[in-house]
Amino acid sequence: MDTTTVPPSRKVLAGCVGTATAAPSLHNSQPWRFRIDGPSVDVYADPARRLHVIDPAGRELLISVGAAVFTLRLAITLAGYRCECEPFPSPADPDLVARVTAGKPTAPSAAAEALFAAVPHRHTNRWPFAHTAVPADALEHLVNAARLEGAALSVASPPAREAILGLALEADRRLRARPGYRDELRRWAGPSARHDGVPTWAIGPWDALESMPIRDLGALSDLPRPTAKFEPYPTILVLATDGDEPADWLRAGQALQRVLLTATWENLATTPISQPIEVPAVREALAAPDGRRFVQSVLRIGYGKITGRTGRRPVADVLMPERRGAT
Ligand SMILES: Cc1cc2nc3c(=O)[nH]c(=O)nc-3n(C[C@H](O)[C@H](O)[C@H](O)COP(=O)(O)O)c2cc1C
Repeated sequence: MDTTTVPPSRKVLAGCVGTATAAPSLHNSQPWRFRIDGPSVDVYADPARRLHVIDPAGRELLISVGAAVFTLRLAITLAGYRCECEPFPSPADPDLVARVTAGKPTAPSAAAEALFAAVPHRHTNRWPFAHTAVPADALEHLVNAARLEGAALSVASPPAREAILGLALEADRRLRARPGYRDELRRWAGPSARHDGVPTWAIGPWDALESMPIRDLGALSDLPRPTAKFEPYPTILVLATDGDEPADWLRAGQALQRVLLTATWENLATTPISQPIEVPAVREALAAPDGRRFVQSVLRIGYGKITGRTGRRPVADVLMPERRGAT
């Protein structure tokens, strides 16, 4: 770091951490912790918040942490600093996922400002979308957003869309039969969700035609569930990476959040559909025919009503104490 410049204060960086916690995470598990150290924020995975049944390898945990890392980078940029991100800076500590460091003071670009403005508005929408096509230039922005973070986003053609939706429904059936699936879902979704988990109001209606594979977070509760007709031809996107190692999952998470914020900026609603990636045999069937890339996320996008924001843990709960001896 250039010693002639003044690094951001701890208070500024704590504010950036608060912004980072608005990121999406699997079942709103928020599996992250942060430690401020001088001009850097170390981002840790919180293995105690891994969902053992659907995410045994911790792949979605790292995608969730990656989404928080991207949001943190954006917040530091908007605070007026150039930002550097070092993935897995300490081989001895695999839970230390990234070190994000504020560098020289720099004015943020208009693109960064637009993405930052989208952070508080981005949310997962599990309701029906309008029967309206997403324009090609908006799709191009999303594809470019993923590319900027080193991932590949593709828009499913009509036959591919039908195949993906079918595979997702099949994966959903298999997950329901997986031991422990229901207990894990009950732990994270339902009326008790407040600072984490998916609250009942965010679960959305049941598809009357049973053709949209939105994860049925509410099927296991005793509450009556409204039904609704979903759009017949959803726009489906597939996010993939070249490798399938922790560094690729981190990259996928940063790309996911950049895509979701770009979509929000484009007034598009989004729903991750992860069941087909959580069943290994289905994930393989989902892979591109050339088999060169690994699918990390399936997204449904479209035009929907604003549904609202779910809770987040207070910053004090995710901020680790300063290292001893830190000034
Ligand atoms: C890796 C990952 C996987 C997700 N998978 C699903 C999913 O399969 N179904 C779903 O409805 N939401 C899914 N979500 C969305 C989360 O449930 C959502 O981000 C979380 O509940 C917080 O709500 P918010 O996105 O509205 O802030 C996923 C999010 C992430 C980051």
